Amino acid sequence: MRIAVIPGDGIGPEVVHAALPALDLLNHELGLGLSYDVFGWGADEWLATGVGLPEGALDMLRSEYTAVFLGALGDPRVPDMAHGREILLGLRRGLDLYVNHRPNQLPDGLVDIYRENTQGLYVGVGGTVPQGGGVGVAVDQCVYTRQTVENFVRYCLDRIAAQGGRKVTLVHKANAVPHTGRLWQEVFREELSRHPGLTGTDEYVDAFCYHFVRTPMRYEAVLAPNLFGDIISDIGAALMGGLGLAASASICPETGFGLFEPVHGSAPDIAGTHRANPYAAVMTLVLLLDHLGHRAAAAALRDSLDQAARTDATTPDLGGNGSTEEFMVAVLDRLPMAIKQEKEQ
Ligand code: NAD
Ligand code: IPM
Ligand code: MN
Repeated sequence: MRIAVIPGDGIGPEVVHAALPALDLLNHELGLGLSYDVFGWGADEWLATGVGLPEGALDMLRSEYTAVFLGALGDPRVPDMAHGREILLGLRRGLDLYVNHRPNQLPDGLVDIYRENTQGLYVGVGGTVPQGGGVGVAVDQCVYTRQTVENFVRYCLDRIAAQGGRKVTLVHKANAVPHTGRLWQEVFREELSRHPGLTGTDEYVDAFCYHFVRTPMRYEAVLAPNLFGDIISDIGAALMGGLGLAASASICPETGFGLFEPVHGSAPDIAGTHRANPYAAVMTLVLLLDHLGHRAAAAALRDSLDQAARTDATTPDLGGNGSTEEFMVAVLDRLPMAIKQEKEQ
């Protein structure tokens, strides 16, 4: 199985190159048969050549790779992350990775956020009408097709039910954005009727944010349209202890293809200072290994990661004094024992 590694910009390459030795070790010790190739897509290439996602990239990924491991994109030299939109949103849409799973491991339990990842306000439908030298009218349309909402909700509910989940919350804003809101509510109700074991509720996204911050354990699994999912998953990251901890998996249930990336961005404010927390990137590899069916490898990596997070080698965002590299030494030190324990089980 081949993995395409896209380190990206800013702290992306820092956390990706810090995390990869863990994958190498697991691959070697557990004979996972994984190999990877690194692609230099990102701001430097965009600024030098004007190319974000090279022509043919989607076909190449589809035919030669099983998954993508991506650091982060975003560079202060590129306004509004034009290159990142082409690469990141291009991959998500082009590979039809419509399910984005963002698990939030909170102090009192797990809240799974499932974000629709290809449509809504991210479809890129819209434009501007000029006025004077600037913009007079600006339109970004929110577009959802029943097919995509159905596929997304069905996959998520099936998965939540299969994992023994009981409660699902749909987040929307049907009081102010009625058309897509109604479609989501309708599909949610229909799909829920196939799952007598699941209790579904729906909440306006503003009220959801209020309750999520105050009493996160009110929620078990949350379904959200694209932009709401983006926003609430940063709240989830804050509740976890920071963006340096949150991982994400974007998958296409039909093909099984997955793009695995931390929730955080390129963090230009700390890039180059060795302060980037690699936890989210390593946790992203845990999700990747799990998705590929390498359960023991995923469990061993997660175990050594969580052990390391309880030492004083953590990075400054978690209150520690460790650098990106020092934290990874703590993870890699613990990994052989965790692998041994998994092998014995
Ligand atoms: P950001 O997530 O990069 O950073 C937000 C804050 O969190 C910053 O203070 C940063 O220092 C901190 N932070 C983030 N990751 C951290 C880590 N691993 N360890 C320690 N601290 C961490 O968000 P931003 O500043 O709004 O965005 C910067 C760039 O990244 C922008 O161009 C944005 O578009 C892009 N972005 C890309 C992705 C992605 O590629 N998936 C995601 C979000 C933002
Ligand atoms: C994320 C990011 C992206 C998004 C940006 C960089 C386009 O914020 O993955 O959470 O909005 O999906
Ligand atoms: Mn985001």
